[in-house]
Amino acid sequence: MTVTAPRNSLTIVDNRTGKSYEVPIEYGSINTMELRKAKVSEEDFGLLGYDPGYLNTASCKSRITYIDGDKGILRYRGYPIEQLAEKSTFLETAYLLIKGELPDKERLAVWTYNIRHNTMTHANMTKFMDGFRYDAHPMGILVGTIGALSTFYPDAKDISNEESRKLQVRRMIGKIPTLAAMSFRHSMGFPYVLPDDDLSYSGNFLSMMFKMTELHYKPNPVLEKALDVLFILHADHEQNCSASAVRAVGSSGVDPFSAIAAGCAALYGPLHGGANEAVIQMLIKIGSLDKVPEFIKSVKAGEGRLMGFGHRVYKNYDPRAKIIKDIAFQVFEETGRNPMLDIALELERIALEDDYFVSRKLYPNVDFYSGLIYQAMGFPLDMFPVLFAIGRVPGWLSQWIEQVKDGEQKISRPRQIYLGQEKRDYIPMEQRPKNRLDEEKFGICRL
Ligand code: CMC
Repeated sequence: MTVTAPRNSLTIVDNRTGKSYEVPIEYGSINTMELRKAKVSEEDFGLLGYDPGYLNTASCKSRITYIDGDKGILRYRGYPIEQLAEKSTFLETAYLLIKGELPDKERLAVWTYNIRHNTMTHANMTKFMDGFRYDAHPMGILVGTIGALSTFYPDAKDISNEESRKLQVRRMIGKIPTLAAMSFRHSMGFPYVLPDDDLSYSGNFLSMMFKMTELHYKPNPVLEKALDVLFILHADHEQNCSASAVRAVGSSGVDPFSAIAAGCAALYGPLHGGANEAVIQMLIKIGSLDKVPEFIKSVKAGEGRLMGFGHRVYKNYDPRAKIIKDIAFQVFEETGRNPMLDIALELERIALEDDYFVSRKLYPNVDFYSGLIYQAMGFPLDMFPVLFAIGRVPGWLSQWIEQVKDGEQKISRPRQIYLGQEKRDYIPMEQRPKNRLDEEKFGICRL
């Protein structure tokens, strides 16, 4: 008996034509361009893959972040998130994400110096900031001001120049806490605070946020450390919505500030970085422990979502949520217990036992406890997604750099399945529909 060696390929039979196609398998995936060979005629375009929301489509090959959603594993450049959270600092982790390896002492010192010396913004930025209404959402301000950085640094357009890329990286990581704090102080009507070089990255951010009349702001070391760890936990998460936005916009060859403004806009949404704010809104709405069962019932009836629960990739406890839960207790030792913690713990307890959540593999994600910590630290609700954005900047930058250097990448341009009207002739004004019944006949869509 002859045994044929297994081939690393997929054989597809097109039942419309009876033809079969052998498609190579590489890294457990097929190149969907191979499907285009399956045609019913010479003029046929060929088969397309249909995948709204990219549930099963890899958009790139990446060496930055590894996630195993079933096992609850997250690693940056191979290092487990638990070890980085315990032993690293945010700036060191940023170096790791962007450069691929942990820095030695000297490299870390130079990196830190370079970022610290890029924390100031152009004086005109304050005028730009002042143009926003007093009640503008800080995340909207952040999207606008990051986009505006491209006008202050036109040299950032030179994306194929490695030295230019390095400079924009320092500028972006250095300036994001400054812009974030300015957006908060603008909404409060407080004067802006200049960066303080003597403080750590997170300590300086706390100073720019909360410094009042004191000469030197001294951050609480527990809160400073907690914020640093929260930034590490948010630093990258492979091809999520905002990283994909950065890559899609960056694929047009635009400067990194414009691409990162797009990522920031994607993060603003309540299903992504806006979820930590939505968690607190939800806890406020629930109000007390005795209302928790009723709320869970309404979620199960499809009347809303349990915010801070569920994830596209994690079908297990989000490893970041575990670390954040521990930090929450350390922070509450300093600030006093957030009164909504008990409601959150009860929601988690019930959800982890309830078949609705268990069968759908819905577990707490990174946003479930982070909002409680931010609130206890004194950040207003609308600053929560901004804090997420500060942490995510090194991830966005590393994804952008990887893409710029990847010869296989092309401008992002998905296909569509067209289900609209066939060709038809222009209708003169007097013959167009006048009422709803006619509109339906003419197939007019409502917004
Ligand atoms: N509460 C109640 N039901 C949920 C939830 C939730 N939070 N999340 C998903 N489901 C249900 C959903 O209704 C659906 O049920 P059915 O099969 O009966 O229709 C099923 O679970 C699958 O949901 P899905 O919307 O198809 O899942 P998805 O992978 O497209 O969405 C998600 C992932 C994160 C958008 C979603 O779980 C969600 O909306 N969660 C709440 C918002 C949130 O916490 N977002 C932060 C995500 S972590 C931070 C980040 O990386 O951005």
